[in-house]
Amino acid sequence: MNKYRMLCAAMFITVGASLFSCTGTQEPVGNTSASASVDKRQVSYILESTTKDSFDLPYPAVVGGMPLQEALAARATGREFSNKPLSDQQISDILWSANGVNRKESLMRTAPSARNFQEIDIYLFVKSGIYKYDAVRNYLFLVKAGDHRREAGNAAFFKTAPVALVYAADFERMEYDQAAKDFYSATDVGFVSQNVYLYCASNKLSTCVCGYIDRESLRLRVGALNGKVLLTQAIGYPVGAE
Ligand SMILES: Cc1cc2nc3c(=O)[nH]c(=O)nc-3n(C[C@H](O)[C@H](O)[C@H](O)COP(=O)(O)O)c2cc1C
Repeated sequence: MNKYRMLCAAMFITVGASLFSCTGTQEPVGNTSASASVDKRQVSYILESTTKDSFDLPYPAVVGGMPLQEALAARATGREFSNKPLSDQQISDILWSANGVNRKESLMRTAPSARNFQEIDIYLFVKSGIYKYDAVRNYLFLVKAGDHRREAGNAAFFKTAPVALVYAADFERMEYDQAAKDFYSATDVGFVSQNVYLYCASNKLSTCVCGYIDRESLRLRVGALNGKVLLTQAIGYPVGAE
């Protein structure tokens, strides 16, 4: 191995080691207390919460899942959902896959965005409430308590899927005219949704992205006053998985 190759290999190992911990989870930026006491695979404190208005999410798992080619081969829309809950770890992993921070120093994301405006916000609809995802702090904060899942889409499966994501663009973050804001935000949200599709394929979950939604009432419901709700996405175990 020549000197250049050795240097590249050393740099690769150093960067890799700093990005991934040996447990395969990525320490989020600004989150120092992330739920050490949480059994990361089993519990659904977020889904069952009646009192908390914010959560440090478990560190997202950044290794695991199936090889990308197998996930692509398995990717499909599923419209039937078991009401089996998802764990807090799964919720954290889904949100991180969707649009989490994957480069700590620059705060860049798992999904690309036009001119890196990072205008797509994600709202998590679960039995206990609506939460907004703070990707930088790996954190959820309550927007509205109560079960609003069925408002996330007009399809009947939003009543049973344990999780729905609502994707909204914050136009204030985009330095474009309105036509370009509409175009680029609609493009960017597709990457976020596809990341979730691939996570679900890789983890044998069912998911359906939906455009048949009531955008204006969802915009008011989540308080996305500077933008627009673009798409929503139901997620859960397929029927028969319980
Ligand atoms: C932007 C967009 C909007 C969609 N809206 C809905 C919807 O409102 N309801 C629904 O059941 N499926 C919806 N879908 C899912 C498509 O119907 C589905 O992706 C398509 O039939 C291809 O199936 P596949 O995802 O299994 O390849 C939507 C997909 C996209 C990309």
